[in-house]
Amino acid sequence: MVLSRRIFLKGVLILAGLALAGAVGAVLFAYSGLYNVAASRGHPLWLNWFLETGMRRSVQFHSGDAPPPDLSDPALIALGAAHFQGGCAPCHGAPGQPINPVYEHMLPSPPSLSGHVPRWEDRELFWIVEHGLQYAGMPAWSGENRQDEVWAVAAFLRRLPEMDAKTYQALARGNAEIERASAAQFVNTGRSALHLTACARCHEHDAAPPSGLVPRLAGQPQTYLKRALNEYREDKRQSGIMEPVAASLDESQIAKLADYYASLPTPPANNAPPGKVFAGKRIALEGDPKRGLPPCESCHGAAALADYPRLAGQSVEYIVSQLELWRRGGRAQTPQGDLMAEIAERMSDEQIDAVANYYAGGGGR
Ligand code: HEC
Ligand code: HEC
Ligand code: HEC
Repeated sequence: MVLSRRIFLKGVLILAGLALAGAVGAVLFAYSGLYNVAASRGHPLWLNWFLETGMRRSVQFHSGDAPPPDLSDPALIALGAAHFQGGCAPCHGAPGQPINPVYEHMLPSPPSLSGHVPRWEDRELFWIVEHGLQYAGMPAWSGENRQDEVWAVAAFLRRLPEMDAKTYQALARGNAEIERASAAQFVNTGRSALHLTACARCHEHDAAPPSGLVPRLAGQPQTYLKRALNEYREDKRQSGIMEPVAASLDESQIAKLADYYASLPTPPANNAPPGKVFAGKRIALEGDPKRGLPPCESCHGAAALADYPRLAGQSVEYIVSQLELWRRGGRAQTPQGDLMAEIAERMSDEQIDAVANYYAGGGGR
């Protein structure tokens, strides 16, 4: 008994000694500067294996089991594609578009994703895009509480492996001739033209946006558009899609863009089922006193304040997505957002659906 205890204690001491020697060795090795951190050199094979396996296992371990939304929804895929073009393609490339050489020389270098996506499950793709990857240069999502946006990117990634260059270009850029047309515009009119064409990728001036989840800007009050862009820029309105776009704008560009979109005519009405339009009209004009819900038109109608948005002509998907965002606790960081949060919380799912159809179907004009 006594002997075996002694042997055990000795074993523990030896192990502790070895661990200490290892730690001291690691510190001395780091301090010596012998390890070459040059990205141009590549990782030794053993380190590559270690990092790759660690990354795979960590993503599998941490990605939760929250059920994904319907990833075949075309509005999600189109929004994901449009964001990918601006937010991911510079590092990862895209069908018909090589990786920017600067990012190609990162270590690890961002892989072309078409071949990598099938390795991951939906929830794992979602987790990587939401949280990013440490020590790899893969950034986390920039909008807090915007899991809905992250799912849009995951929905697009799912489709990426089967996408050829033409399909991708049509989906990610729509009709906007961004980079190709912008060199001349850039020289002639300066940066604002570049930004406008970048906006047109998502906010078309004459056609419906590529995804129902993108708001129509035409005919919104100039004051509201300016406020919205400033809020994205100042991190007061969370969106991993709009915040990076707005961060690159200055005051005068924001004013010009707001002028431009405010001057366009209100978009034409969408199709909406008459039954829902009828139920929605009642809520819009009278509210629902039982739930303490004020009439929407009192703030969103023709006589609304200049920094309040108009709802007429907005899509069902966009109206529903914003009301759900408020119900989840998002978009409430500003006094105006906080006001709407109170209202959205009082609405039932049916009321949200009905009133969204009313405004999308031409109500409120
Ligand atoms: C600044 C460059 C950069 C940007 C921007 C970027 N990534 Fe990455 N991403 C990386 C790097 C580097 C890795 C490789 C990490 C590794 O291998 O450990 C990576 C890895 C990934 C992976 C895992 C690939 C695999 O199987 O190894 C996915 C998925 C991914 N990125 C998606 C995206 C999406 C979607 C976006 C846009 C929302 C994006 N990335 C934006 C640099 C970037
Ligand atoms: C990749 C697609 C994309 C691009 C590019 C883009 N937007 Fe957006 N925009 C969106 C989405 C999606 C939203 C809704 C975000 C949210 O939920 O807050 C939005 C919201 C907005 C809003 C708020 C509208 C409202 O009704 O509250 C304004 C204003 C706006 N964008 C202006 C611009 C301008 C100006 C540009 C170009 C500089 C631009 N956007 C580029 C997708 C895009
Ligand atoms: C007391 C005034 C008030 C009432 C009543 C009101 N809203 Fe709003 N609503 C606002 C304000 C202010 C904003 C802008 C919030 C912001 O800037 O974040 C807004 C924004 C919205 C938006 C986002 C629009 C966009 O372009 O992003 C939707 C959707 C919306 N309201 C729906 C409704 C509905 C549906 C009702 C009726 C049930 C309603 N609102 C009633 C004040 C009101």
